[in-house]
Amino acid sequence: MLFIMVKIDLNGCNSFVKSSDYKTYETAALAAFDTLLAGSGKGSDFLGWLTLPGDMKESELAEYEQIRDSWKAKGVDLVVVIGIGGSYLGARCAIEALSHSFSKQLRDKGGNPEIVFAGNNLSEEYIAELMDLVSERNAACVVISKSGTTTEPAVAFRIVKQHLEEKYDRSGASERIVAITDAKKGALKTLASQEGYRSYVVPDNVGGRYSVLCPVGILPILLAGFDVREILRGAAEERKALMSKGSANPAVQYAAMRNLLYSSLGKKVEIMVSFSPKLQYFAEWWKQLYGESEGKDLKGIFPASVTNTADLHSMGQFIQQGERVMFETVLSVEKSRREVKIGSNPQNLDQLNYLSGRNVEYCNAMAQLGTKLAHIDGGVPQLEVKVEQIDEYNLGCLFYFFEFACGVSAYTLGVNPFDQPGVEAYKKNMFALLDKPGYEEQSAAIRTRLA
Ligand code: PA5
Repeated sequence: MLFIMVKIDLNGCNSFVKSSDYKTYETAALAAFDTLLAGSGKGSDFLGWLTLPGDMKESELAEYEQIRDSWKAKGVDLVVVIGIGGSYLGARCAIEALSHSFSKQLRDKGGNPEIVFAGNNLSEEYIAELMDLVSERNAACVVISKSGTTTEPAVAFRIVKQHLEEKYDRSGASERIVAITDAKKGALKTLASQEGYRSYVVPDNVGGRYSVLCPVGILPILLAGFDVREILRGAAEERKALMSKGSANPAVQYAAMRNLLYSSLGKKVEIMVSFSPKLQYFAEWWKQLYGESEGKDLKGIFPASVTNTADLHSMGQFIQQGERVMFETVLSVEKSRREVKIGSNPQNLDQLNYLSGRNVEYCNAMAQLGTKLAHIDGGVPQLEVKVEQIDEYNLGCLFYFFEFACGVSAYTLGVNPFDQPGVEAYKKNMFALLDKPGYEEQSAAIRTRLA
């Protein structure tokens, strides 16, 4: 029996669901599991992510290390990672989870450059402030766009590129730019080839939100100084574990339970809960994965998130007593990698001596358990997804687990997990409003509508 790295606990749903209903959804999830692995479902030309953990060659990792070392040799202390959606959330999630919470304030950064993200918005203030930083520092840039045509990263890249060329001249700039894009098509591919940028490929059969385990996620995470081999090892072991079909498979259990809660109990909102601020961006990555994969055909669970205990003092009231539309998935971390004990104080003016000698994490665990019981009493079913600790290996496990479970869950729901046709609607309007060549008819129509 293989050791399953991500564990799931459904006992917080027991008082809400009948086991006979669960069996029905389990059967559907098992059929969806077969569909996913047989490649017989909708969007099956986008299944390349299934094997990504084992696909990355050691020679490619060595090339990334060479980029890291050559930038270090130039004194690069800032890397701007440009991308949006699946082209940045995986890297950001890992870097936020693995970094020291105060790395910006600490002087010793272990010789690694600071990583900042851009191209995920069109805020002029953000870009202006980014350029204030870039101008002061010794910067390099990784620009990521699978299509190579997305407006937000293209705008940010044009501005960063121009700055690097002014500062280091064109050939100096090209040594500081890496592009990750399609193998053959798109404006970024053309630009990268003409300028001679070092380029890496987003495989054709891997969609943006399933791309964290290819260069899209792996290169920025490596540049930030983290052990990407451990991420890939965790993902590979999780993959092995998830290949065994059955009712104990945690991806099947997750898919079955969330579909049951949604379809039979009307729980339309799933809240990803964590009790560590380091996991805030994990929830952002997860929200994009599930929101874009399932929210279509007028179906889908709305993915939301909270970070406790902070949000127990903001969203906690609603979750406890507001409209009963939600269930929670708690991302539970079994142990802290740092230890801080609460001391004792003879005066006990703050009345905390009852906690003397306790670890802070013990208090966090009790807050988590107390919240679980309270929310179940308040009518909120709770699933728990457990990992041992927040490190590269376990993040790799989590990435693979949630991607795989997403495929199973979306097929259980009956939607294509791998397309995102709805994302085009805003783009068409924006291009029409910006008078993009080729959109003349839409521009006229939208102006008439707004008149
Ligand atoms: O998951 C997806 O496919 C999307 O979120 C894309 O990653 C996002 O729209 C960015 O696209 P691109 O990488 O083509 O710029």
